Amino acid sequence: MTEITKKIGIAVKEILKGNVVALPTETVYGLGANGLNKNAVLKIYEVKKRPHFNPLILHLYGIDDLKKYAKHIPEEVYKLAEAYSPGPITYVLERKSIVPDIVTAGLDSVAVRFPSHKMFREVLKQSEVPIAAPSANRFGRISPVTARDVYKELNGKINYILDGGRCEVGIESTVISFLEGKIKILRPGYVTAKDIEKITGNKFRENGKRKMENGKEHFLNKKKYLSPGLLKSHYAPLTPLYIVEDLSALTRISKQNFYHINLSGYKNLKSAASNLFKEFRKADEKKYDFITIQKVENTGLGIAINDRIEKASTGTIDTFIGKSNSYLV
Ligand code: TXA
Ligand code: MG
Repeated sequence: MTEITKKIGIAVKEILKGNVVALPTETVYGLGANGLNKNAVLKIYEVKKRPHFNPLILHLYGIDDLKKYAKHIPEEVYKLAEAYSPGPITYVLERKSIVPDIVTAGLDSVAVRFPSHKMFREVLKQSEVPIAAPSANRFGRISPVTARDVYKELNGKINYILDGGRCEVGIESTVISFLEGKIKILRPGYVTAKDIEKITGNKFRENGKRKMENGKEHFLNKKKYLSPGLLKSHYAPLTPLYIVEDLSALTRISKQNFYHINLSGYKNLKSAASNLFKEFRKADEKKYDFITIQKVENTGLGIAINDRIEKASTGTIDTFIGKSNSYLV
């Protein structure tokens, strides 16, 4: 049985024992283990049922800790950190050998992040170890944003979930690579390309869309390695999700048991991002035949939201309607 607790001391003990514990962050819940303890990190893969060794984010307490685990840190990282860390931004940098291979999946780089959630920070401070943590969902599923979501994903697989309430940001951190003298956004997130441009002066393509459609290239050739967070099948709800370009398509579907996620009903993009995974889970729990959703404007935080929608989707509603005439009115 897995226990949901608000006691930080319990989470600290679990980390120091070499166990895996679910922890709240401002983005999504993480599945944490002592990032310097190989066996503890191995347990993360067992619990998540991740089929491959994907690199994990190393969560740190203070900016000063950065140089313990990464080298050749460019000035831009410190500038960005001043503005956004602690917060929802992850830096991919050259790693130092102290970081175990199991954390970086054998890459020469390491992803580091300084979470801002008070409880996570307290666990980092008290345990005095870096915490390796992926999102606390089973492989391929939606990231959890409440302790209850984690419980549903991982009950019986871990001893404790530290309950820090609902995650404010609601989608995963922006992942930025600083390797080979270039700044690249590997995963769009709450901190937008514009935000990064303003601080670093680096220009990004308007829509940071990736070419890679599946994970093959990524696993075959490490040099071309981008980020498994870019796999198309990531973040999927169990119920098929179809993207609707034109809302009038919904009127062409007969009385099927489906749910339309209306993101425009939220007051702004921040609120839409923060509710996106909650909406997916809600729809999954209600056991609809399928879910529909319309993308948001593809600028700023909208890029991260649309990225998660695309990864979660099975296709557009038109392909669906085309496949099954019986669904037509
Ligand atoms: O908001 C977040 O980032 C959450 C919370 C728990 O911190 N964590 C999270 O972890 O989303 P995960 O494992 O689900 O996603 C981490 C992403 C993956 O896409 C992974 O490929 C990428 O970061 N990543 C990690 N290390 C990397 C590296 N060395 N090079 C390139 N990408 C890396
Ligand atoms: Mg994840």
